[in-house]
Amino acid sequence: MSSKNEKKLTDSRNSQETSPINSDEKFLDQTLRPNSWAEYIGQKNIKDNLKILLKAAEQRKHPPEHLLFYGPPGLGKTTLANLIAKETRTQLKSTSGPAIEKVGDLAAILTNLSPGDILFIDEIHRLNKTIEEVLYPAMENGSLDIIIGKGPSARTIQLDLPPFTLIAATTRIAMLSAPLRSRFSGGVFKLEFYSDEEIEKIIERSAKILGVEIENEAKTEIAKRSRSTPRTANYLLKRGRDLAQVREKNLTNDIVKEALNMLNIDELGLNSEDRAMLTIIEDKFKGGPVGLNTLAAALSEEQATIEDVYEPYLLKLGLIERTPRGRTVTDRARRHLNR
Ligand code: ADE
Repeated sequence: MSSKNEKKLTDSRNSQETSPINSDEKFLDQTLRPNSWAEYIGQKNIKDNLKILLKAAEQRKHPPEHLLFYGPPGLGKTTLANLIAKETRTQLKSTSGPAIEKVGDLAAILTNLSPGDILFIDEIHRLNKTIEEVLYPAMENGSLDIIIGKGPSARTIQLDLPPFTLIAATTRIAMLSAPLRSRFSGGVFKLEFYSDEEIEKIIERSAKILGVEIENEAKTEIAKRSRSTPRTANYLLKRGRDLAQVREKNLTNDIVKEALNMLNIDELGLNSEDRAMLTIIEDKFKGGPVGLNTLAAALSEEQATIEDVYEPYLLKLGLIERTPRGRTVTDRARRHLNR
């Protein structure tokens, strides 16, 4: 593989060495990832289905069928892909939709797979349509169709690919074309928000790995404010630990509250951007409905960020509603904003 393509791909076994971003934070995030099904908390239904699918594939001595995970950021789509690789003792090669810029990039990635490898494509909704079409035969019958030449003398040659499993992740299932979606023959799985109890267990496990003692009350407080999302819970735990360390104190509820207040995270787990969105709908647009593009302009945010990052949790909490005419805030949001 050319050195250029190596940058588009990260190997699960030596990602520490090859990753372009190699901060402490990233290393920690990888340390906190579960290594077995037993350590993986929550998403019970997905876990039960995947265990059967993987076991059956192993018994048939066949790579598992292609899988698609979707849902809001931070719920563990990448974590699941890594865990599947660990549990099946296979190599995971990781890339993302925007990193695959040309058909040749994908061809290089596919032809460099070893038999049984897992190819993980994050943000698959950002894969360009022409490139997407190269994936179809690769997923369906393990062949790479390459067109050589142009016009009447153009020919297609077919290359056999090693058997592999594609695991893809997206926050935008609606942006995936029907033909692509239907090729995930192993299943399309939606990750759900976690319960507070599940988040508490994740915090407890992460605190143990980080070697910090955390009060029960502090654990509950972080869980309550973590947007029902493991990535946020781990982030808040780390910020609480930082403050405890600097203050030379234990990770108590008071320390956690102080850390969360410094980060402007309120009792519902909303940050300044979430509150700005609610406030703008209420004050500037009289509670709504307001269209997504207008809202994005008013907030100086991308529409995709509003839809992927802010809205899922605000909808879950019942603070906003999506109507055919746009977004509205609810009475609960007004009470939260003290209106
Ligand atoms: N870290 C991130 N997601 C997790 C999960 N579901 N279980 C355990 N640890 C995690």
